[in-house]
Amino acid sequence: MSDKKIIVVTGATGAQGGGVARAILADADSGFAVRALTRDPASPAAKELADLGAEVVPADFYDEPSVHKAFDGAYGAFLVTNFWAHGSAAKETEEIEVLVRASKQAGLRHVVWSTLEDTRELLPLADDRMPVLQGAYNVPHFDAKGAGNELFRQAGVPTTFLNTTFYFQGFLQGFGPQRAEDGVLALTLPFEEGKLLAGVDVADIGRTALAVLKGGEQYIGSTIGLAGDHLTGAQYAAKLAAAIGEPVRFQSVPYDVFRTLDLPAAEEIANMFQYYGDFDQKFTGARDLDRLRRLNPALTSFDAWLAENASRIEVK
Ligand SMILES: NC(=O)c1ccc[n+]([C@@H]2O[C@H](COP(=O)([O-])OP(=O)(O)OC[C@H]3O[C@@H](n4cnc5c(N)ncnc54)[C@H](OP(=O)(O)O)[C@@H]3O)[C@@H](O)[C@H]2O)c1
Repeated sequence: MSDKKIIVVTGATGAQGGGVARAILADADSGFAVRALTRDPASPAAKELADLGAEVVPADFYDEPSVHKAFDGAYGAFLVTNFWAHGSAAKETEEIEVLVRASKQAGLRHVVWSTLEDTRELLPLADDRMPVLQGAYNVPHFDAKGAGNELFRQAGVPTTFLNTTFYFQGFLQGFGPQRAEDGVLALTLPFEEGKLLAGVDVADIGRTALAVLKGGEQYIGSTIGLAGDHLTGAQYAAKLAAAIGEPVRFQSVPYDVFRTLDLPAAEEIANMFQYYGDFDQKFTGARDLDRLRRLNPALTSFDAWLAENASRIEVK
């Protein structure tokens, strides 16, 4: 039997957990084995992880015994919930509660929790610059995760809080440049020009989580704010233009206009970008790129990410 310490990875078939699983599996000296959780071990993504050497086990956040069973005997975990599976902060909170109970019951020694700022700490709900969503949130997918931090603390689970941010991969998935009516490519975001947006290569969530797990005890109880670059909308557009080989202009859409658009989760997305913008100094200041690069020397800048991925940006 292997004497490697087992790391449970939720969302292992997805972007964040997949990055964590791959980072661990690629590091022969980590001393860790990956236990990848999925609702469907027969899916292509699950089979790929098994081929890479992961132990793939079935678990569904809505079948709590399956989660407890999957955590049994593990040393640690990388935990992420998927708000976008349902779009409900109340459901995401229920999932976090299940993960906290399972971590506690299994006696995990180190959990890396993929979380985000609770925006209500800087922006009280009474502030009327943005609508309150789902009864109690500014940005439900941020606030539910941030409030979840306290559940890990109260349960005494030894946790490192990994504050994530906007993935560079978003530019491949809906936030990328689109041709405007005048024929010019436009990067259109509900974000004010001059504000800084922290972006990250999702693979760096994996590489950083592995560094934190390897670092062990020194990181327990601490919060690590993650990013690979802090750039303005115009800077993202200029870098996209250079990589694509065609001009891209940044087009800022006022938050109130974006909220009224007939787009999925338009209010939530506008609130999120308004929070990124209105609190940009605090948000980017909590993500020190030099410190992050010391923890994860492979930290990817936006230029480096574009060098690898620009050819995948579809522009018509
Ligand atoms: N997109 C961004 O820029 C961004 C930035 C920061 C944070 N986030 C956060 O990232 C989270 C999503 O992570 P991701 O991007 O890695 O998602 P993803 O690529 O869409 O993958 C979702 C994962 O969640 C798992 N999952 C969903 N429902 C589950 C359930 N009931 N039980 C067990 N596993 C379940 C899926 O596993 P199976 O299908 O295999 O069961 C899958 O592996 C969201 O909560 C979002 O708020 C996103």
